[in-house]
Formats: sequence, structure tokens, C-alpha cells
Amino acid sequence: MTPKKKAAGTEGMKRFQSAESQRRFSRQAREAGKKIGLVPTMGAFHEGHLSLIRRARAQNDVVVVSVFVNPLQFGPHEDYEHYPRDLARDLDRAREAGADAIFVPEAGEMYPPGFSTRVSVGPMTTQLCGAARPGHFDGVCTVVLKLLGIVQPHRMYLGEKDAQQVTILQKMIDELSVDVKIVTCPTVREKDGLALSSRNAYLAPEERAVAPRIYRALRFAQREILVGGEREPERLRARMTEQITDGTPFAVEYVAMVDPETLVERRELSGRTLIAIAARLGRARLIDNLLIHVPGGRMAEKVGMTREKR
Ligand code: PAJ
Repeated sequence: MTPKKKAAGTEGMKRFQSAESQRRFSRQAREAGKKIGLVPTMGAFHEGHLSLIRRARAQNDVVVVSVFVNPLQFGPHEDYEHYPRDLARDLDRAREAGADAIFVPEAGEMYPPGFSTRVSVGPMTTQLCGAARPGHFDGVCTVVLKLLGIVQPHRMYLGEKDAQQVTILQKMIDELSVDVKIVTCPTVREKDGLALSSRNAYLAPEERAVAPRIYRALRFAQREILVGGEREPERLRARMTEQITDGTPFAVEYVAMVDPETLVERRELSGRTLIAIAARLGRARLIDNLLIHVPGGRMAEKVGMTREKR
């Protein structure tokens, strides 16, 4: 006989639907001198999400996970309706990973009728992913600032997989003087290199088979820069694009080499450089990136092996 399973999310983890109840919980924790870590998510958890929750568990007294598929960050023709949702499973996994509370508001709780505020960080939100997804990052900033207001965390945990999101949210926090520290966590991958993403579920088997090419192209770029001494973004971009698309149904949206703080394109590869890719594969839009410390100086370029020298 199998032991009777407790209802999901009821044991040792609080679940809040109203902003008021979540705020009360956070206020009490703060008054007791506890440090709060927030992991904002849109649910459909995979190991990437869970790694953030575990990191938050290790560094805080109280861990709050929010699950909210945020309509503001989806374009009119995007996958808001079809975005994977599995709250029962998410509750179990969040609890196992160490969450103390899960905040699961309805859309009407976050955006009551008449809601009209938008938070916009400016030009860097219209580049890279922002170019193909107008308004996306305004939606992200608006919901995250609101979540910060409700949960009042000391730390917020974000994945490096969404590097542009991290850069933009850090700028928002700095410029609006929000008292929270962003902690970034490395990208969790499948064995073949594909970055875990809720949207990988959209891939047909033959698409899944070629999906790791994105990460392979990033590693190729890293080798070309660090070992081959490549410093020409255009040439590298062309070779990476070919590696991804050759014989596959991939449509590359961008291959970008940018300053990770400003997201401005590098004309020559140097210093800390974020190499980021977005590509469509069937119904899925996949993104990935790698931060590379490009060795500086002309000699290093020739030898191609010198380690970082910012
Ligand atoms: P979501 O896509 O659910 O991602 C939640 C968090 O998990 C983000 O910080 C994201 O970078 C991180 N994450 C996703 N895949 C990861 C992986 N393979 N390895 C490590 N971390 C990974 O990002 C969002 O939701 C939303 O934009 C949100 C910030 C919640 C605002 O709505």
C-alpha cells in the first residue's frame, strides 16, 4: 500500500494569493529580524528554477517564491495562453527545494481594472530580445517592481540564462533606489548543453535533436576568442549563425556581442563580453548566452592564450 500523499503545498509551506496576505507574512518576518529571499518565476518549474530556490534557501532565513504568468510581458501574438502551467507540481517542487512561502496571485490581483503604470528602463529594453518583443521588458520591470513592493525581500534571485533581464532589472533597482540585492545564478543545462527552459516543451523530437547547436555555437565562439584569437564580431557572428542554421529549421533572430552592463554592441571583441543568441525553432523561441573575458592587448591577440586582463 502506498502511503497517503498530503495535498500539494500544504505541508510546511505557506501559500498566498492576495498581495495583502503575502505582505503581512513578509512584514512579520522582517520585524522578527529575518532575511527574506525572493525567487520570482512564471512557474512550470525545471532544475533551473529549483537551483535558484535552493540558492535562496542557503542564504536567507525566509524564502518566498512567486509564481505568476505575467500577461504584461507577453506580446499580443505570443504564447501567454499556452504558456505551460502546472501549479500542483510546482507547489511540491518548491517545497522540496526549501521554499517557506509561495505567492500565487491571480492576474486581477496584480492588475486590477484601471491599472495603468508601466516601468521602463529605456533604450536597453529595445535591443536584443526587446527588438523582437516590444514592451516585454517594461512588463518584466513593472511586475518585478510590484513583486518587490509586496514581498519586500533583502535579496532577489535571477538566472544568468536571461542575462538581458538581469542587466535591465539591476539598472531599474539602481536608478529607482530599491533596497534589494540581486543574486545571479548560473544557467542549468541538459547534458547536451541545451539551457533548461519551460519553452523547451514546445520542441518536436527532431527540433530537440538540433536545439543544442545554440550552446555549441557559444562554446565555439569562446574557443575562437580565447584560443584562436578572434576579435572580429562580424566574422564570428557569420560563422556562429552558419553553425546553428546549417541543415536545420533554425531561424536566428540575433547573435550579439555586447558589453554586459550597457548591452552596447562591441565593435571589437575586448574586455567582458556577453555573447547572446536568440533563435526560433518550430514553435519555440530559444535564448542562451555566455559571458567571456576577452584577453586584452595586441600581443595577447597574437598569442591568443593570455588570460583575462581587463
Ligand atoms: P521564468 O522564465 O519562469 O524564470 C524565472 C527565473 O528562472 C529567471 O530568473 C530565469 O532567469 C531563471 N531561469 C530560467 N531558466 C534557467 C536555467 N536554465 N538556469 C538557471 N536559471 C534559469 O524570467 C521570468 O520567469 C520572468 O520574466 C519573471 C522574472 C518571473 C518576471 O515575470
